Amino acid sequence: MILVTGGAGFIGSNFVLDWFAQHDEPVVNFDKLTYAGNLNNLLAIRQRPEHIFVQGDICDTARVEALLSTHRPRAIIHFAAESHVDRSIHGPGEFIATNINGTFSLLEASRAYWSALPEPDRGSFRFLHVSTDEVFGSLGPDDAPFSETTAYAPNSPYSASKAAADHLVRSYHHTYGLPTLTTNCSNNYGPFHFPEKLIPLMIANALAGKSLPIYGDGKNVRDWLYVSDHCAAIRKVLVSGRCGETYNIGGWNEKTNLEVVDTLCHILDQLAPKADETSYREQISYITDRPGHDRRYAIDARKIERELGWRPVETFDSGIQKTVQWYLDNQDWVADVQSGAYQQWLEQNYNLRNTVQEVTQ
Ligand code: NAD
Ligand code: TYD
Repeated sequence: MILVTGGAGFIGSNFVLDWFAQHDEPVVNFDKLTYAGNLNNLLAIRQRPEHIFVQGDICDTARVEALLSTHRPRAIIHFAAESHVDRSIHGPGEFIATNINGTFSLLEASRAYWSALPEPDRGSFRFLHVSTDEVFGSLGPDDAPFSETTAYAPNSPYSASKAAADHLVRSYHHTYGLPTLTTNCSNNYGPFHFPEKLIPLMIANALAGKSLPIYGDGKNVRDWLYVSDHCAAIRKVLVSGRCGETYNIGGWNEKTNLEVVDTLCHILDQLAPKADETSYREQISYITDRPGHDRRYAIDARKIERELGWRPVETFDSGIQKTVQWYLDNQDWVADVQSGAYQQWLEQNYNLRNTVQEVTQ
């Protein structure tokens, strides 16, 4: 079996669902169920005995050690993290606790478990750490995309905490020989994306008749990857990745935020036209920029293609169309996660920002 951390979050739950679409191999899903963890994401596999959900914190080393000795996984896929840049600006403490101390704790428990494994299990064990392209910092418009050898230059507490975790993982391979793999992926989108991130927030706000809040001038660039393509890349790295290596994963889809929001409005105008026949574009508003906002991310994903034969299946057009349709079909899921604490987050992040009427071109 495999152990997945953070498997009730956006990417982790997609990974577990996709796993069971192709495997019968059991998964122990270890998740703290923070605001971002949601068991409703896993309803489709609630009847599968091979899915064992355990609520717990990766910072609890003894708990993780007990979990490893009970279930004896052949691999750990580590998704669990605090993942939202804006939240890391308002409150970095949780990011240090989970992303750095939690990864350290997981590495320690894994090292103890792996060291005691008999051969050949010891040789085939894998610790796969899921990370982000944000560790590389911000690119200028003409800079080459991030490659695996780009120097780390994290700019937000989120990316700095992920960078620290990446370094710890690297050190456990070099110092102790732990068979680690690290993936650095660009921005994901797709089903079960928590509606505080750009794409699901814009869809939810559009349908609710609220403003579509663009930070700054809207010209920041992200590379977008449909989540099931990320999950497929992780499975490839797990099977064939070389221990101690890192693999960049990206969609070859660089878009400005304005382009993304414009596309969402265009699709919504077709699939869910407003009664007054105006476009959702009219809801766009410009608000005060995110402090330290990285201007551009872009990924050179040639290594994983060359060495492991992975390429994304979805184009941005096909993936975004599916995503909008999923949110239209799953408005109950959105309503459920928008209750309670989510409202406090909106107030903290948006009500305190000034709406900027004029945008400098
Ligand atoms: P998410 O915030 O949607 O989910 C995180 C999950 O981790 C939640 O289920 C949460 O309950 C769980 N969790 C948080 N703290 C925990 C703890 N201390 N112990 C156990 N579980 C805990 O995040 P996501 O978007 O699914 O991202 C998953 C991973 O992928 C993260 O490591 C993130 O850095 C990385 N990543 C995300 C993106 C993206 O675009 N979302 C891109 C590249 C890499
Ligand atoms: P986000 O989804 O938070 O991902 P990340 O910051 O990790 O890339 O944001 C994606 C981009 O969208 C980023 O440049 C910030 C911008 N953004 C807005 O303009 N408005 C918003 O309300 C949000 C949440 C993000």
